[in-house]
Amino acid sequence: MNVRTLDATINGTAAAHEARVELTAEDVDAMATASGGLVAGTWRGMLDDLEIDERVLGPWRLEAPSPIRLGRGVVTVATTCLRHASNARWCSALDVQGRPEDSLVVSAQNFDLATLKTEIDPEYWRRWVTVGKPGTLMPGFAATEGGPLDEPQINSLVEYLTKAYPRPVKGAKR
Ligand code: HEM
Repeated sequence: MNVRTLDATINGTAAAHEARVELTAEDVDAMATASGGLVAGTWRGMLDDLEIDERVLGPWRLEAPSPIRLGRGVVTVATTCLRHASNARWCSALDVQGRPEDSLVVSAQNFDLATLKTEIDPEYWRRWVTVGKPGTLMPGFAATEGGPLDEPQINSLVEYLTKAYPRPVKGAKR
């Protein structure tokens, strides 16, 4: 991963503090906040917020705060779920304590690859089918661009594509 910026701030004492981490990379922006404290070599706390925006997978948000424990040879993260604008969920739980029953459990629900994608501009389909991409093999289909389709035909194609390949639209109410 090509990390562009990484900002971490911690407020408080070792025994009780709040931390905020922000990261921007080529294809992903992420922000996490956690609160907790270090007692007898073990950090116990909560992951309070987590926001991830990935170029292809879109925006994911932490559904509810989740407890975390970090110590020597011990990492436990209670079931933590991220929710996507399309209502897809990604949950995981980690329990590593150096025992045979150590586990990482990952589950996904409601994944619909058609709607998981990044948001598109409201004019996305109209622009692609009307003018295509000059200088490539992707032609403009509108009569105004020398293509075969008149305006009602372009409208009908845009309507079909919007329904057949649903994607979240920028600025639209969720
Ligand atoms: C109704 C039919 C079509 C639709 C809805 C359509 C839609 C699209 C869209 C949305 C993209 C952009 C994909 C992206 O970058 O995310 C694209 C790219 C492209 N399409 Fe089409 N297309 C159609 C027909 C065609 C046809 C007939 C050809 C070939 C003659 C073609 C050749 C291409 C090429 C070469 C690209 C890549 C352009 C580039 O970025 O270099 N498409 N098309």
